Amino acid sequence: MIGTGYVGLVSGTCFADFGHVVTCIDKDTTKIDALNNGKIPIYEPGLQELVAKNVDEERLFFTTDSSDAIRTADAIFIAVGTPTRRGDGHADLSYVYAAAEEIAGLLEGFTVIITKSTVPVGTGDEVEAIIQKTNPDADFAVVSNPEFLREGAAINDFKRPDRVVVGTEDDKAVEVMQELYRPLYLNETPIIVTKRRTSELIKYAANAFLAVKITFINEIADLCENVGANVQEVSRGIGLDNRIGSKFLHAGPGYGGSCFPKDTLALSKIAADAGSDLKIVDSVIEVNTARKKKMADKVVDFLGGDVNGKTIALLGLAFKPNTDDMRDAPSIDIVEKLQSCGAKIRAYDPASMEEAGKMMSDVLFCDGPYHAIENADVVVICTEWDQFRALDLERVKSLLKAPKVVDLRNIYKPDYMLSRGFEYTSVGRSY
Ligand code: UGA
Repeated sequence: MIGTGYVGLVSGTCFADFGHVVTCIDKDTTKIDALNNGKIPIYEPGLQELVAKNVDEERLFFTTDSSDAIRTADAIFIAVGTPTRRGDGHADLSYVYAAAEEIAGLLEGFTVIITKSTVPVGTGDEVEAIIQKTNPDADFAVVSNPEFLREGAAINDFKRPDRVVVGTEDDKAVEVMQELYRPLYLNETPIIVTKRRTSELIKYAANAFLAVKITFINEIADLCENVGANVQEVSRGIGLDNRIGSKFLHAGPGYGGSCFPKDTLALSKIAADAGSDLKIVDSVIEVNTARKKKMADKVVDFLGGDVNGKTIALLGLAFKPNTDDMRDAPSIDIVEKLQSCGAKIRAYDPASMEEAGKMMSDVLFCDGPYHAIENADVVVICTEWDQFRALDLERVKSLLKAPKVVDLRNIYKPDYMLSRGFEYTSVGRSY
């Protein structure tokens, strides 16, 4: 497994737990040293224990030196980063190509090389060409095998996936992939074998479709506010239709994270390069970007149109619960905009404050939700961590200057909050 980022580490560990012998390779010595000392560089529930178990049982290894592991491998996963390239929105493939070059010279016997990183359509062809050019004698096949892991639920998503997608036309490679995922046959997980390019596109299309769903319900939420409807009931009312499905219909402050923003942008570029219009995806990007800032306006409006000199308590900073990931988190835009309007921010997040500290300035990071709320003019719930779902509301009221709550994740019921003496607003629910 080349790359011990989020995807590499979770996938490598889960493959080891399936019974395979896995070596995770990374150039970052500090990371590998930490992993060899049992320290996990990312926050993912259950991962620490699973790594420890598989290291103990001698199926999982970490190293900076790829040579032995590559030579003896039947399958090599490329799980390095594909960040948005600065300036043009394309995925930056330099790490993928560097990995391909590096492994090419070391291959021995038939080896399957798998792109796990999210890569634009045609990247597999390029990886194949690089390996062929660097080592014309190599016996190999390049396969696309996208991941569909959600941060915070990644282990379960890996072990109990809705489907596995394998993109290759090489029969020997299909056999190796089937062997790798054999434990999933027991659960009768569908394994879909497609052409490589189709598999590469499935990944982008899946993420873009989910982003469309979220953005659609967010716009419907705005409409609900204007026409006196309730978006949660609309979601339920449409989600029970099996053709629509109830998931990813929670209105909120807009999607963030390391995947949807990056992948929608990359898909839009892939389409433009191929001469195809993806107007829906382009609109989703535009609407979602604007939405994050609009959430700050919601807070300003709630406080009567002026937040200058006001103190705002922000609960939750990460782009979603159960992660410390701050990439493209709505909280970043919200804080920036509120600060530019003269507000002071006190914030608390159970996992992401260290990361947030690198991205935000002049924010007072607090010791807990009640500390953040102390003497604030309003509480803004930005991420739906479980611990914010059952706050001691009497305590919240006594700590605030005035009992005001903006709930951007709809985790409280409007009637209940009103009955408890709060001035309360949320997303897409008018009363
Ligand atoms: C996403 C996909 O769900 C995974 O299948 C995929 O493998 C991954 O990207 C990836 O490409 O690596 P992730 O970014 O971890 O996973 O997070 P999600 O749970 O999908 O949430 C993304 C964002 O959408 C969050 O900001 C979340 O708050 C928001 N969201 C999600 C909503 O606002 N409403 C919803 O109903 C669902």
